[in-house]
Amino acid sequence: MRTVALVTQKGGSGKSTLAACLAVAAQEAGERVFLIDMDPQKSLTKWANRRNDKTMPVEAVPAAKLADALTALAKGGVMLVIVDTPATDTPAAEAAMRACDLCLIPARPTIFDIWSSEVTRGKLRTLAKDFAFILNQCPAMQESQRVLDGAAALESMGGLLRPLIASRVAYQEAAREGMGPTELEPEGKAADEMRVLWGSLKRRLAQPKVRAPRRLPAAA
Ligand SMILES: Nc1ncnc2c1ncn2[C@@H]1O[C@H](COP(=O)(O)OP(=O)(O)OP(=O)(O)O)[C@@H](O)[C@H]1O
Ligand SMILES: [Mg+2]
Repeated sequence: MRTVALVTQKGGSGKSTLAACLAVAAQEAGERVFLIDMDPQKSLTKWANRRNDKTMPVEAVPAAKLADALTALAKGGVMLVIVDTPATDTPAAEAAMRACDLCLIPARPTIFDIWSSEVTRGKLRTLAKDFAFILNQCPAMQESQRVLDGAAALESMGGLLRPLIASRVAYQEAAREGMGPTELEPEGKAADEMRVLWGSLKRRLAQPKVRAPRRLPAAA
């Protein structure tokens, strides 16, 4: 079983959206997927209520119970767990960062998001956890210099999962219906992006990298 957490200190960067869309794309590709919703906003839980699909379970798990929940899911034959989290300075996000194989850090192509991503990366490096960035909500029509700069910044900070994800109404419409874009518009561009993103994530999970913990200054 592989475990992936969507984490970032920045609100609204697309953690819940990507968790849901990736879960659907992975399931369509043959994975047995389980979603864990650790965010008190309960975006994924509400998405699941609209979906009403027993093959895509979503469960709220408190920080203290996450490790046990993952052990039980592994025994139960789940292949992929995707964990959605609130901001990184919460016990829930910290538990997810510690417990999961790989942390995905979504960021929009804005300097405030890139700066926040650096903070999240710092936390993950301190924990010696593996991570990759996703550039989300990019302008759909062009690869502007701002987007290219954002991609380069995240690449240099430790690796960007491709493709760049555009800002598309299909992501918002799919969420409203309790779906992923691969279900709502299977031939659409958002669906293509999510299939390619799942392929990148799957390859990334097959080559786990253990990052060296960041050296902390010696105590005075
Ligand atoms: N690629 C995208 N294209 C268009 N809209 C998007 C995309 N990704 C996310 N959104 C929209 O941006 C908003 C924030 O996304 P989302 O709720 O997934 O972020 P989040 O990181 O989970 O936020 P929070 O920190 O509040 O939990 C939502 O309205 C969502 O529909
Ligand atoms: Mg969310």
